[in-house]
Amino acid sequence: MYAFLGISMKLTEHIPLLKILFLAHFSFIVGLQKAPRITTLLETVDVLLDHNATFICEVDSRPQADITWTRNNIQIRPYDSRYLTRENGQMLIIPNVKDTDNGEYCCIADNGIGEPAKSCGALQMKMKPQIKRHPTNVTLLIDSKAVLPCVTLGNPKPDISWIKDDDLVKISDRISILDYGALKIHNIKREDAGQYRCVARNSFGIVFSKLVTIEVQAPARILRVPKEKRVPFGTEVKLECNATGNPIPTITWLENGNTISGASIEETLVGQVILSVLRVVANKPALYTCLATNHHSGGANTVKATAKVTVSGRSFQ
Ligand SMILES: *[C@@H]1O[C@H](CO)[C@@H](O)[C@H](O)[C@H]1NC(C)=O
Ligand SMILES: *[C@@H]1O[C@H](CO)[C@@H](O)[C@H](O)[C@H]1NC(C)=O
Ligand SMILES: *[C@@H]1O[C@H](CO)[C@@H](O)[C@H](O)[C@H]1NC(C)=O
Repeated sequence: MYAFLGISMKLTEHIPLLKILFLAHFSFIVGLQKAPRITTLLETVDVLLDHNATFICEVDSRPQADITWTRNNIQIRPYDSRYLTRENGQMLIIPNVKDTDNGEYCCIADNGIGEPAKSCGALQMKMKPQIKRHPTNVTLLIDSKAVLPCVTLGNPKPDISWIKDDDLVKISDRISILDYGALKIHNIKREDAGQYRCVARNSFGIVFSKLVTIEVQAPARILRVPKEKRVPFGTEVKLECNATGNPIPTITWLENGNTISGASIEETLVGQVILSVLRVVANKPALYTCLATNHHSGGANTVKATAKVTVSGRSFQ
């Protein structure tokens, strides 16, 4: 048709009569032809994961229009194996839809007459919630902060909640759920220790993450410091020291800064508190130091407390 038009143009430049005839002929042809019109417009297609999506773009056009499709404004190549077309391109089929197929699809019909016609619609993959990244066990030092991830997929976007030891986690100024589903705890406290899981829910389903543990560690801390004592020469002196922490600290004793020989040490664990009782015969004045040590995720930590023991009833020169 263009070729014909081109030749005609050339001829008509010099022959006005032919020009008139040509124009009459041209309008006759145009009368039979028409620019494409899309009679069935694209609609938003909601499709579940792994199902087939179909867009329909019914075109009225003379002569028949070439129909091309785009996804997110990028043309789909005619033989792209990801897609199937039917009905001379008026139907686009996307088999086994994945979330990567989401986007805006358009059909463009062009027959060289007038403006091409275009219609667009979105592909929205509907999907049951899935957990893409689970939280993991964490060991944290008291007063630090925790972020437990819970990355989900799903459409509509799943609502995320968190469960601790079978109860819903309460949101507070210290505990929040971030936009992307992670649980964030500021200023970790001992009572935050426990078992957690996230729950993702949308209108298509619900899914639970793995169960994970938050362990809260605390540096060693002495609760009961040994008391200063004055005892008669040669008697047994009893010093007590107790400490807590997570892991449970170990307690050691020093006499004037050195390890002690010939002393009795008795340890008792009550809950998270370790009590150490030192019994030693007082035959000289001395300084006794209780050392409490533990190793936690922040490193090692030792605290100490010292008591002076003085001896009465005998003079030391
Ligand atoms: C999706 O399309 C494929 C190929 O066109 C076909 O074999 C399959 O049965 C279709 N699946 C559904 C769920 O319609
Ligand atoms: C997390 O810790 C628990 C014990 O508290 C253990 O049973 C589980 O296997 C751990 N999970 C992972 C993912 O390491
Ligand atoms: C440890 O010391 C504290 C403070 O003196 C005391 O309240 C607590 O009962 C002691 N616990 C043990 C197990 O000795």
